[in-house]
Amino acid sequence: MGSQSGSRVTGVVFMLCGLVLLGGGISSSVAYGQLNPTFYDETCPNLTSIVREIVGQVLNNTDPRIGASLIRLHFHDCFINGCDGSLLLDNSPDIQSEKEAVANNNSARGFDVVDDIKTAVENACPATVSCADIVTIAATESVTLSGGPTWSALLGRRDSRTANLSAANVSIPGPFETPDQLKAKFTPLGLNSTDLVSLSGAHTFGRAQCRTFSQRLFDFNQTGALDPTLDTTYLEQLRQICPQNGNGSVLTNLEPTTPDGFDNNYFSNLQDLKGLLQSDQELFSTPEADTIEIVNAFSASQQAFFDSFVESMIKMGNISPLIGTLGEIRLNCSRVSRTGAYVAAM
Ligand SMILES: *[C@@H]1O[C@H](CO)[C@@H](O)[C@H](O)[C@H]1NC(C)=O
Ligand SMILES: *[C@@H]1O[C@H](CO)[C@@H](O)[C@H](O)[C@H]1NC(C)=O
Ligand SMILES: *[C@@H]1O[C@H](CO)[C@@H](O)[C@H](O)[C@H]1NC(C)=O
Ligand SMILES: *[C@@H]1O[C@H](CO)[C@@H](O)[C@H](O)[C@H]1NC(C)=O
Ligand SMILES: *[C@@H]1O[C@H](CO)[C@@H](O)[C@H](O)[C@H]1NC(C)=O
Ligand SMILES: *[C@@H]1O[C@H](CO)[C@@H](O)[C@H](O)[C@H]1NC(C)=O
Ligand SMILES: *[C@@H]1O[C@H](CO)[C@@H](O)[C@H](O)[C@H]1NC(C)=O
Ligand SMILES: *[C@@H]1O[C@H](CO)[C@@H](O)[C@H](O)[C@H]1NC(C)=O
Ligand SMILES: *[C@@H]1O[C@H](CO)[C@@H](O)[C@H](O)[C@H]1NC(C)=O
Repeated sequence: MGSQSGSRVTGVVFMLCGLVLLGGGISSSVAYGQLNPTFYDETCPNLTSIVREIVGQVLNNTDPRIGASLIRLHFHDCFINGCDGSLLLDNSPDIQSEKEAVANNNSARGFDVVDDIKTAVENACPATVSCADIVTIAATESVTLSGGPTWSALLGRRDSRTANLSAANVSIPGPFETPDQLKAKFTPLGLNSTDLVSLSGAHTFGRAQCRTFSQRLFDFNQTGALDPTLDTTYLEQLRQICPQNGNGSVLTNLEPTTPDGFDNNYFSNLQDLKGLLQSDQELFSTPEADTIEIVNAFSASQQAFFDSFVESMIKMGNISPLIGTLGEIRLNCSRVSRTGAYVAAM
């Protein structure tokens, strides 16, 4: 990981060594500041199946978009001070909520599902599992339930007691950005061009609002012309959905071939100039970009995409975790817990 996360982790190693001696049961990998897949095996053995069940019910019964929305929550959480649940905090006298950042306001969603999972997890294992880990598992299970790869999320994160709205305003990748602009946001977090392309592959499912791409259809980059990197048939279809000066909140599929499936069609669509967002299409269409050959490799092999996606999700999930005694285990994901007195009162 980047030096940022490295230094934060190093700072608690000695403290954690003490905990390992006292606790006895804590996995030795924790002593080196790492997350691990067995973190809750003793304290909340059914955690993953509880999360999978709730996400599966929502996906099946009420909201086929929720998998994509939950991955986006994890992503937008991890990019701001690491994966610490900061995005889940509501406004309060001490918190300026990241939910109101440009990239989140009226688009980040799934908070109600996270709350439902948290309630079920608190019933099974009170005051044990962080909201940051719940979001991580929900994102992981969403991929598997939608036809993507299966892996065990690394766990042991704790929740922040702060949020950073100004960082959220400037650090989350945006839909109009070029590969170089995107890389400038990924690189400081220890994520390289392979991670950029594989994580962009999460746009294999979910929906996007017209406002995130409609300038491509009418007045691209304020040139008065159309986006030359957009297939003309697809462009006409999109104009039907998103007419000029129409409702910018109307939704369309991010990946038109298999809208709710997690697969590698996103990449073949980019090769066919059918990437919905400018930031997607430019991974393939920007001359000389080092992302082009990665798009081609993932289009040629779904397995290569899946393997890389899992690795990149784990790398992203490792950004600056709060571990040991840092942060806290929130009881309500939307607000910081106060003190031990609050826990005792529950
Ligand atoms: C764990 O979940 C299984 C089914 O998923 C259930 O049979 C079992 O009772 C649960 N165990 C606990 C301790 O809740
Ligand atoms: C969702 O639907 C699939 C396919 O029909 C089924 O196998 C699975 O058990 C369902 N999951 C839930 C949680 O209802
Ligand atoms: C967020 O969206 C709400 C509802 O549209 C709006 O009232 C509010 O002003 C927005 N907040 C910011 C910071 O833009
Ligand atoms: C963040 O962006 C919102 C617009 O979504 C703006 O209203 C707010 O003032 C910005 N806040 C900070 C701290 O940058
Ligand atoms: C919030 O993020 C901004 C910009 O990334 C940074 O300058 C500032 O120090 C952060 N504030 C806190 C309290 O961490
Ligand atoms: C990105 O990092 C991964 C290891 O995490 C490595 O396998 C991959 O080759 C790197 N990609 C680039 C373009 O350097
Ligand atoms: C958009 O316009 C700006 C300024 O003219 C230019 O620097 C940039 O390369 C253009 N972007 C694309 C994708 O054409
Ligand atoms: C715009 O579209 C959204 C999403 O379909 C809808 O909820 C909203 O009511 C529409 N607004 C107007 C003014 O039609
Ligand atoms: C969690 O906290 C929020 C305040 O951010 C509050 O609106 C909500 O009712 C709380 N949920 C529960 C279950 O107490």
